[in-house]
Amino acid sequence: MLDWTGHWPDQDSGLSLRSLSPTPLQLYELFPWLMRHLPGPHQKAFSCLEHIHSFGRSEIRRHKENRETDEPRDFIDFYLDEINKKKDDPESTFDEANLVHVIYDLFTAGTDTGSSTLCWALLFMVVYPDIQEKVQAEIDAAVTRSQRISYEDRMNLPYTNAVIHEIQRYKYVLLVGNFRQCAKDATIFGFPMKKDTVIIPDIASALYDPEEWETPHQFNPNHFLDKEGNFFVRDAFIPFSIGKRLCLGENLARMEIFLFFTNLLQAFTLRLPDGVREFNTNAVRGGLAVQPYPYMICAVPRKATAWKREQEASPEILEADVTKPSCCSLVV
Ligand code: HEM
Repeated sequence: MLDWTGHWPDQDSGLSLRSLSPTPLQLYELFPWLMRHLPGPHQKAFSCLEHIHSFGRSEIRRHKENRETDEPRDFIDFYLDEINKKKDDPESTFDEANLVHVIYDLFTAGTDTGSSTLCWALLFMVVYPDIQEKVQAEIDAAVTRSQRISYEDRMNLPYTNAVIHEIQRYKYVLLVGNFRQCAKDATIFGFPMKKDTVIIPDIASALYDPEEWETPHQFNPNHFLDKEGNFFVRDAFIPFSIGKRLCLGENLARMEIFLFFTNLLQAFTLRLPDGVREFNTNAVRGGLAVQPYPYMICAVPRKATAWKREQEASPEILEADVTKPSCCSLVV
């Protein structure tokens, strides 16, 4: 097994060694025959799995019934077309049972990872209010308040982009990449790997490599900024893995994280609730991903101040439009 401790030291990343023990999911990947007979949270997962499978089956049914044109509307339509095209090919792996599994894969791989990253991102803005302020100042300078931030705006938001990348590096939400198996005898970095050897990619070893990052165990957005403040990405930044089987949802995930993070910070200032003085940045194992402990933060609307200024300048704006700054608690 991996030497975890090399890359996730307790005091720096806040990830306790206890949480580094393999999840039931990982154990199931390794020993499915054994885990099927053992009690534990994975048994509940099996029943949830059936729930998502039945959702997948009903979506497929709905797509087949509602399709009016040849034009595919989405992934399920594309997949159903592929099944149709390959129906006479005995080698084809495209069938409805497989589509149900693919829908499940996309759901599981695409929800926990992105939402956990966002949970870390929001928490870190509370932990580092100066960084939050810089992000908001950059957003305000690049995008007018009334405008929603689009993904293209990232080109004009180098600091914000660097902060997001650093969150993904520093609080990497997966402990390891997907387990793989050698299809044939191979040599990796001089190590002989026999056919069928299980490979567990240790992605964090790159994200925390002291030869690649100035302060690998500190949250430091400058890892992604050059001397002039321009954004750049290093080769060692591989949260989505690399190679032919890298994360299929990378582009979607990047877009989601950027849009949620920037639009939230454009609209709100995040801070601790009144009376709360401490935050916990330790990690806890969620489902698939590593998450912060549940926390409460206050999201104070920022527009209120902007609208107030606008109202002072043009008094015809109705009083009712002026939202009083209020603190809405978010439980994340
Ligand atoms: C922060 C968000 C995400 C992170 C950090 C992440 C990371 C990863 C990593 C490390 C892998 C393993 C790649 C390998 O084995 O080399 C992977 C695989 C995968 N990811 Fe993501 N992912 C994220 C979001 C998403 C989203 C949004 C989707 C889809 C909607 C998605 C779908 C998948 C799928 C289907 C695979 C398996 C690809 C394959 O085996 O060929 N992921 N992801």
